[in-house]
Amino acid sequence: MAKTDAFHGSKLVILDFGSQYTQVIARRIRECQVYSQILRYDTPARELKQTGARGIILSGGPASVYAKNAPQVDREIFKLGLPILGICYGMQLMGFHLGGKVEHSERREYGAGMLHVKNSSDLFRNLPKHLDIWNSHGDKLTKLPRGFAAVAQTDNSPFAAIADVKRKFYGLQFHPEVAHTPRGKEIIQNFVYEVCGCKMDWTMGSFIEQTCAEVREQVGDDHVVLGLSGGVDSSVAAALLHKAIGDQLTCIFVNNGLLRSKEAEVVQRVFGENFHVKLKYVDATTRFLTKLKGVADPERKRKIIGNEFIRVFDDAVTELTKKSKNSARFNFLAQGTLYPDVIESVSISGNPAALIKSHHNVGGLPKKMKLKLVEPLRQLFKDEVRQVGLQLGLPNEIVYRQPFPGPGLAVRILGDVTRERLRILRDADAIVVSEMKASDWYYRVWQSFAVLLPVRSVGVMGDERTYENTIALRIVESQDGMTADWVRLPYELLGKISTRIINEVKGVNRVCYDISSKPPATIEWE
Ligand code: XMP
Repeated sequence: MAKTDAFHGSKLVILDFGSQYTQVIARRIRECQVYSQILRYDTPARELKQTGARGIILSGGPASVYAKNAPQVDREIFKLGLPILGICYGMQLMGFHLGGKVEHSERREYGAGMLHVKNSSDLFRNLPKHLDIWNSHGDKLTKLPRGFAAVAQTDNSPFAAIADVKRKFYGLQFHPEVAHTPRGKEIIQNFVYEVCGCKMDWTMGSFIEQTCAEVREQVGDDHVVLGLSGGVDSSVAAALLHKAIGDQLTCIFVNNGLLRSKEAEVVQRVFGENFHVKLKYVDATTRFLTKLKGVADPERKRKIIGNEFIRVFDDAVTELTKKSKNSARFNFLAQGTLYPDVIESVSISGNPAALIKSHHNVGGLPKKMKLKLVEPLRQLFKDEVRQVGLQLGLPNEIVYRQPFPGPGLAVRILGDVTRERLRILRDADAIVVSEMKASDWYYRVWQSFAVLLPVRSVGVMGDERTYENTIALRIVESQDGMTADWVRLPYELLGKISTRIINEVKGVNRVCYDISSKPPATIEWE
């Protein structure tokens, strides 16, 4: 059942047929300052109507319209009177349903191509007659459906763009949403503004205002707890909720003893001192390290840390409730869930996007604690979360901070996690961060950190032979953490980091640079 999003302004709906680019389409529309919502391909027409959308986009997808299990639309959507843009598979599906002909071709047309625009149409308004485009399709339309005309062609296809201007139905065989179609954004803008008549009312200012009102309504006089990790999502959620409900929000910051240098201090400074958020700081270092004693297996480490977090958090909420003078009821748990976690993924065999898993974040909290959820960021993409954070006055050091795994330094210490090994890794990591920042590289990469290996090697220091630990540097670039490559950092910078670590961190005599990409390696070492 499709959920009707609460946003009151202009909105477009994207029906997802399993394309790896569906979320890219949604983001392109949001960049036009118009709200977009992704729904399953088989969402009934009457539900689509209820969303109040001003237009529908049919995404691409890996299937062939004639295949037995091909995802189909509710044909009634073509009678809603709404503009429709079909992209790739979406265009073929529309053609197929409206009386055109689609032919299966064994050879996929994949890669760059040139589009020749024949007829002016709203979709190509203010665009040149010849455009670079990106193709990725097997089947193609070979006969136009009734009412349609060809608007643009490529060398391989007379129907690369088609339109039924009267019904406002458009089809594109190529992908306007990808960066390889350089003027694609303008094609999408034309559909959004000219064809659908959307207004630019999706701004982070309007989002903040509307979300605050909704949260106040949802929460009433109750109290909300939020596990603040210092990461971007929980930090922005905290700042937003604090704006909405002030002291009805209490943040719990658990120091699991596996944090980076200064992390606890930064969170306390920003949220406690600057924002005056009610902040409960729990130092659970001993609890976590006791549980981790002698554990070297990565999966066991992760499980232990996840479970212990739930217990510590639960204890903290119980304590808060007991202590609270006016017996505040903590009935709500806030989480920094984002839109990509919410989208119901369409799993169609052969589609790599369907296999991509979302990451192992702390789950299980609400189920165990019987708390209702508040998820103020569930409509947002990551870049939008950052904009909201900046508008709410959070500093760059939080808004643009690199991702940090929930199990923290434990998965960057291969082998046993002890206080001494934590000290070594923390000191080495602090040098990596400070040199990356000083050289302006920190914000240009996805992640940059140190890993402590379970390897000792021989060295010399002065006249002495040493037998000490090895640090690996992991510095990667990535768009979303799903794939990554090592960064070609200048040798001088690598040299400086290495020298400083070996000179300043007691217990290290060797530094290596990890030059593996993901896949087949992962970003973290455990
Ligand atoms: P991998 O190591 O799987 O990491 O290539 C991909 C991205 O996910 C981050 N990561 C985590 N994030 N909880 C998180 O919130 C975790 O348990 C976790 N493990 C890995 C990792 O830092 C990288 O950005």
